[in-house]
Amino acid sequence: MENSSLLILHILFILACFAICNYAVKSDIDCLRSIKESLEDPENLLSSWDFSNNTEGHICGFTGVECWHPDESTVLNIRLSDMGLRGPFPLGVKNCTSLTGIDLSNNHLTGHIPSDVAHVLSFVTTVDLSSNSLSGPIPPGFGNLSFMNVLRLDNNQLTGQIPPGLSELKRLKKFSVANNRLSGKVPIELQLYNFPADSYANNLELCQGRSYVFGDPK
Ligand SMILES: *[C@@H]1O[C@H](CO)[C@@H](O)[C@H](O)[C@H]1NC(C)=O
Ligand SMILES: *[C@@H]1O[C@H](CO)[C@@H](O)[C@H](O)[C@H]1NC(C)=O
Ligand SMILES: *[C@@H]1O[C@H](CO)[C@@H](O)[C@H](O)[C@H]1NC(C)=O
Repeated sequence: MENSSLLILHILFILACFAICNYAVKSDIDCLRSIKESLEDPENLLSSWDFSNNTEGHICGFTGVECWHPDESTVLNIRLSDMGLRGPFPLGVKNCTSLTGIDLSNNHLTGHIPSDVAHVLSFVTTVDLSSNSLSGPIPPGFGNLSFMNVLRLDNNQLTGQIPPGLSELKRLKKFSVANNRLSGKVPIELQLYNFPADSYANNLELCQGRSYVFGDPK
């Protein structure tokens, strides 16, 4: 099912491309340029991200960047896990308008997840922000990302409650908010998805049903 909806998205993209391709391509390049500018990269692992070469598809060879086609500058996935990256969530990702997956796990990202996440990551199916130092609330806007299959927010310092809207994510197969500082009740509809208790472990006072408390208070 995911594959067929991806295919439909892709076909729509190609159709739209005939009209706005130059814009789309430029937008994806702006996206990556902005991501590189907003992240500190102490180990210089983004050195392949060199924007001086204007050949179509050149950005597809950048570390962690996967395009829909290798010779077409349209970004499908960004995978920058475990690269020692620092800084806030890179808002420039909004300009990668055909993006379906982003993995920034195991870095040192700080600050809040953008509250307008639904506009920043419009069509994503996979979001992995686990093992960073993100703080603040889980934006309710995640509930609008209706293509989402995988949402990993574990091992951060997120606070507040799990937004009830997350139960709108009918395609969600993997989900974890373990090891944060969340509290309140897991939305009852989300409980019906039967994610394992591990998905919720080690928070402040996160409870399921009436009495079960996941993990011990930190
Ligand atoms: C520019 O990028 C293309 C595609 O990645 C590559 O084949 C070409 O060698 C590059 N040109 C320069 C001058 O690096
Ligand atoms: C997207 O790119 C445009 C330039 O093409 C830029 O003005 C805008 O600030 C970018 N958006 C973000 C969120 O970085
Ligand atoms: C997000 O979802 C909520 C609840 O389903 C809805 O009220 C809101 O209009 C949606 N926002 C967007 C931007 O789609």
